[in-house]
Amino acid sequence: MDTTGSLSFGAAEPDAAAFAQLRADCGWGLLPLDVARQAIAGGLTNITCHDGDRLVGCGRVIGDGAVYFYLQDIILRPAYQGRGIGSEIVRRLLVETRRMISSEGAIGLLSVAGKERFYEQFGFVRRPTDAFGAGMSMHVKK
Ligand SMILES: CC(C)(COP(=O)(O)OP(=O)(O)OC[C@H]1O[C@@H](n2cnc3c(N)ncnc32)[C@H](O)[C@@H]1OP(=O)(O)O)[C@@H](O)C(=O)NCCC(=O)NCCS
Repeated sequence: MDTTGSLSFGAAEPDAAAFAQLRADCGWGLLPLDVARQAIAGGLTNITCHDGDRLVGCGRVIGDGAVYFYLQDIILRPAYQGRGIGSEIVRRLLVETRRMISSEGAIGLLSVAGKERFYEQFGFVRRPTDAFGAGMSMHVKK
């Protein structure tokens, strides 16, 4: 973990309750604690940002650990947005993800509407392109 002012970045798994609360406070709905724990355990790598003891931002990478990787749950509390913290989280996740790719791989994400430009600065390409179709997803609610 390293510290800038009262902020500290780390690569350990976030506490499941704090992670679920952070998502909920940012308007993403409250995951049950056991589901949050399962989601975190199923990921490949994490970056957290704490202000003191409080989780204020995080990002995760999920995937097969060899070829295909996806950024997930890139979130910052609103009061901490616009200060370069989100960029630092993504930058650190990409360093770790590139380390896991031995020769060739792909890193994807599903951007929230309006956040595409944030990701373009890291080299992500907005789809569809001439070569690639639109990304697709399915939301499942039981
Ligand atoms: C998206 C998010 C992670 C960005 O983190 P952040 O710390 O606020 O962004 P940064 O301060 O690192 O911004 C870095 C650069 O991206 C730009 N940027 C940030 N958000 C942007 C947006 N929504 N649209 C376009 N550009 C954006 C900034 O202007 C800045 O550019 P600059 O360096 O030229 O000034 C954060 O705003 C957030 O958590 N939002 C709510 C949750 C969310 O929507 N997450 C994305 C899920 S796909």
